[in-house]
Amino acid sequence: MLNIVLFGPPGAGKGTQSEKLIAEFQLGHLSTGDLLRAEKAAGTELGLKVKALIDAGILVPDEIVIEMIKKKVQATQGGNGFIFDGFPRTVAQAQALDEMMAGLGQKITCMVSLNVGFDELKTRLLKRAELEGRTDDTPEVIAARIQEYLTKTLPVADHYRKQGKLQEVDGLGTVEEIFSRISTVLKAHA
Ligand code: AP5
Ligand code: MG
Repeated sequence: MLNIVLFGPPGAGKGTQSEKLIAEFQLGHLSTGDLLRAEKAAGTELGLKVKALIDAGILVPDEIVIEMIKKKVQATQGGNGFIFDGFPRTVAQAQALDEMMAGLGQKITCMVSLNVGFDELKTRLLKRAELEGRTDDTPEVIAARIQEYLTKTLPVADHYRKQGKLQEVDGLGTVEEIFSRISTVLKAHA
């Protein structure tokens, strides 16, 4: 099984690369951002609870996200495994993920971390704002998301580095170039 944590700051290309990787390696895609936006759009109780946080670029509480991902893992056809996109975002989430995988008799294969500089992230997200109009792609909220990433999420890379599972990939270049770099890393584990 190939269970991949796709890691990186807002705009690093996690969603873009996930789409290509799930097709190439037959993996189930679990994006907590997509799941939370779907709840928000459907106006569910959970969606109403998280709306203000997402719109402000603040992380949703761990308990909510962990509960949501547990349900989704059970409901999703993994095929050869899973790609976790935008999860785990805190060390507590990483610990919960490791426990959940152990409970399923599985483990995280590796964390692929996409390295992209902050100027490029901002450029990409402001361009996406024009195309898609995501509510959190404004200059103020992008800054808040990057701040959350630096303070709460970056330590997750250390969590997997200590396990010898961190694989850093250059996230600059064309979508195809980056896909090819990640594929090379994953093929070494397949
Ligand atoms: P989430 O949806 O996870 O957003 P994010 O991490 O801020 O990342 P993005 O989805 O914006 O970027 P991405 O890395 O997927 O890049 P993409 O491929 O889209 O989270 C949103 C919110 O939900 C959080 O702020 C939080 O409130 C909440 N949340 C989610 N998960 C949570 C969790 N686990 N715990 C707590 N709260 C949570 O690419 C970006 C743009 O760049 C696109 O337009 C794309 O076309 C373009 N692009 C991609 N690749 C390239 C390239 N190589 N060159 C040029 N442009 C490119
Ligand atoms: Mg995304």
